[in-house]
Amino acid sequence: MSEPERPKVTGEDRLPGDPTAAELIERIIRVDHAGEFGAIRIYAGQLRVLGETPDGSIIRGMAEAEAGHLRQFEKLMMERRVRPTLLSPVWHVTGYALGMATALLGPKAAMATTQAIEEVIDDHYAKQAEKLGDDEKDLRATIEKARADEIEHRDTALRHGAREAPAHGLLTAAIKAGARTAIWLSERV
Ligand SMILES: [Fe+2]
Ligand SMILES: [Fe+2]
Repeated sequence: MSEPERPKVTGEDRLPGDPTAAELIERIIRVDHAGEFGAIRIYAGQLRVLGETPDGSIIRGMAEAEAGHLRQFEKLMMERRVRPTLLSPVWHVTGYALGMATALLGPKAAMATTQAIEEVIDDHYAKQAEKLGDDEKDLRATIEKARADEIEHRDTALRHGAREAPAHGLLTAAIKAGARTAIWLSERV
């Protein structure tokens, strides 16, 4: 007879040297808050260039979803007393600059930026959700809902020509590397 399924507990599979469950949750909230903030700044930079073009309303729609995600992580920060990353001012400027610079390459490059970022975030949220136990159901659900939205944004970007962006492979590889670095830093600083 098989054993009854035991509820999964956050941090139960941690190895010596890994963050504790409390540290893990703190990191998750901090980095996700930073990421959603960064996403809003990227879209703001894109809208500065493309706001009045046909892609403007599509970008605005995605930016609104990010604002909803940010509000949820802000609420979690207050409830759990987690401080924001010290890098917020950096993401404020870098996100905007990235959004603007890629939008200046054209609307398809802006969409390729969204595609690249959302692919990294999809993976990032999936890994986080996997680490959370049944004692953190609400946080896990918040992350899974945001992840579903990010996957939708990736698909929107693909439908709007992301793959036809100039130097698509190079552009998305560079953006992904930057996004992964930003995640790594925001978890720690
Ligand atoms: Fe988001
Ligand atoms: Fe998104």
